[in-house]
Amino acid sequence: MLKPFHLRRSAAHTKLQGLAKEVGQMHMLRHFEEDEDRLNHMHLEVGPIYMDWSKHRVNEAVMKALFELAEEADWQGGIRQLFGGDPINQTESRSVLHMALRGEAHDAFHVQGVPVMPNVLATRQAMLAYADGVRTEGQVKDVVNIGIGGSDLGPLMVTKALRAEGADGPRVHFVSNVDGAHLEAVLGKIDPASTLFIVVSKTFTTQETMANAEAAKAWLADALGVTAIPNHFAAVSTNVPAAEGFGVPSAHIFGFDDWVGGRYSLWGPVGLSIACSVGSESFQALLNGAREMDRHFAGSPARQNMPLISALLGVWYREYLGFPTHVVLPYAQDLDRFPAYLQQADMESNGKYVGRDGQPVVHSTGPVVWGEAGTNGQHAFYQLLHQGTTVHPVDLIAVKEPLSQFNSHHQKLLANAIAQAEALMCGKSRAEVEEEMRDSGASEDHLASVAPHRVFEGNRPSTFILLSALDAHSLGMLIAFYEHRIFMQGLLWNVCSYDQWGVELGKALAKNILSEWQGSNSSAHHDASTSALIEKLRGA
Ligand code: F6P
Repeated sequence: MLKPFHLRRSAAHTKLQGLAKEVGQMHMLRHFEEDEDRLNHMHLEVGPIYMDWSKHRVNEAVMKALFELAEEADWQGGIRQLFGGDPINQTESRSVLHMALRGEAHDAFHVQGVPVMPNVLATRQAMLAYADGVRTEGQVKDVVNIGIGGSDLGPLMVTKALRAEGADGPRVHFVSNVDGAHLEAVLGKIDPASTLFIVVSKTFTTQETMANAEAAKAWLADALGVTAIPNHFAAVSTNVPAAEGFGVPSAHIFGFDDWVGGRYSLWGPVGLSIACSVGSESFQALLNGAREMDRHFAGSPARQNMPLISALLGVWYREYLGFPTHVVLPYAQDLDRFPAYLQQADMESNGKYVGRDGQPVVHSTGPVVWGEAGTNGQHAFYQLLHQGTTVHPVDLIAVKEPLSQFNSHHQKLLANAIAQAEALMCGKSRAEVEEEMRDSGASEDHLASVAPHRVFEGNRPSTFILLSALDAHSLGMLIAFYEHRIFMQGLLWNVCSYDQWGVELGKALAKNILSEWQGSNSSAHHDASTSALIEKLRGA
């Protein structure tokens, strides 16, 4: 178990509160003026990832206090417990060892003293052999991943991001929503004879996934007969008996252990659809990238530690400056599902108000995470980022290597990414606006009425993350970077990052409402509003 940590009772907290009033309000440009060497000590390069964190409302005093906060929370002890297989998922009495899924034979990952790598490697080998078979035998033209949440978002995001590496693989589709339109739209595009369905569910009980899997099975049986089902279905789950009961042959079932959280699971069999798309070599490169980030995180001192620094900046903004959200802006169309993936990873992990000691926390916890691929977002919500009344710190993620055959597009894309970071920080003063307007011949009346609207106060923080290429290795590193950032923030915020009790109530109530609707339960009591909605749908 991770020790409870009471952020507001720490010595660093008082310092940070004071600093928030001074440094937190200073314009970042002043920091650049006062410290010519700022960029030198506020950037990091780890393998193919360059992170510039100089455009933040921090100076040496703030960073020193933030590092002290991390020390008080015993961040290194936390890492030792995580990698050591301690049951830090305390409410479920489980270890948290997704790092083992990208481990190598000599890595010493243990759960309750038992080494896990032999099993992990055997499953990886079987799963990759199966995926390569799907790719090379040529009968499968379409793979449909049926799953939701962590059994969907990670594989979907990675498969999209590695579009180029998957160009010679089968087409991969994702069905998650219990809205039948999702399944219908995919079934309309595929031929049952050349389709493989992969049912992915850690529990193999999730309502949405089971409904979609049953419907897909019926659709296939209708077209090809029930005897065809075993050949067209594979399954991934910790609940192997349930997958067998569904009708998937044991040879096509890939199990994993409960010490892998759903939202951290793409590295193992949950990534089967990724492997079918890109092949075993690229999948292994994805794992190697993540492992490189694991080693960086576990082995680097605070001032060189990318996930720790990013986590501390997030805590500074959320707790000390009161900024409620964190924006993720990938300047890569192929990463357009990255914000959605990160929403689950971060918000399902750290969106909690009860601390590790079972008491409600008195400080803020995880921010709202949101975002969109650039430049699309620029033409939608950046207005608010630049001139809204609340500051929203952003991560801009860009890729140096062109992402398509259209090289000049890439230059435009990157120019926009860099320009946004500059605009967010520098803004535009009233004097600059007036000069510009006078130069373009504006009348003094027009200037007086319009100039205030054209002023950008700036001082809006951003981290610039530049990948050398959007390949499997760099992507693996990027995802693991965010996983560890989430871990560090959860440690500081004193929450249990690896459970998700907050999603259970809605699931249970939906079951009740459904059985009421279908007439098998008439005893449920609801508030007047809920009852009226149910009645409306019943047509009464
Ligand atoms: O409802 C939330 C959740 O439990 C997620 O944590 C999980 O990723 C998702 O549902 C799907 O669960 P499963 O993989 O068991 O179907």
